[in-house]
Amino acid sequence: MSKILVLNGPNLNMQGAREPEVYGTMALPQIQSIISARAQELKIEVEFFQSNHEGALIDCIQQHMGSTEGIIINPGALTHYSFALRDALAAANIPTIEVHLSNIYAREHFRHRSVIAPVSRGHIAGLDWRGYVLALEALAEIIQAEHSNEGQI
Ligand code: DQA
Repeated sequence: MSKILVLNGPNLNMQGAREPEVYGTMALPQIQSIISARAQELKIEVEFFQSNHEGALIDCIQQHMGSTEGIIINPGALTHYSFALRDALAAANIPTIEVHLSNIYAREHFRHRSVIAPVSRGHIAGLDWRGYVLALEALAEIIQAEHSNEGQI
């Protein structure tokens, strides 16, 4: 069974309670259970990790190299400046989809730039919790396509 790692960065533990007009009202555990339900239908194993610490996220990515086939990441504010997180994703070379609950392009100027986007396969912003589910569906297809390509070699 393919495994996907779902990472959430700083302040996402406050999801549902912080700035609900921006990020929606659904708490992270609720979002995670929706992701789990869809993963079960897609026959994918998901593992969740949230941290407020850049290094902990990087450690987690490094620990999952070789054991996870895809990453969904909402890096929170690290999106906009963490070259260390970007380098960790580049080194891991695992198909990654970046997700944002809010539409970062409709917000403050400093949120318009993502240093993670260039090392991601795709990027979803502004669709609230739905972005995670869409990312999961896309990764499931990407992984399946890569498996069938391997079969052709
Ligand atoms: C966020 C957008 C970031 O700019 C912000 O710092 C977050 C959440 C989002 O999901 O919309 O913490 O990644």
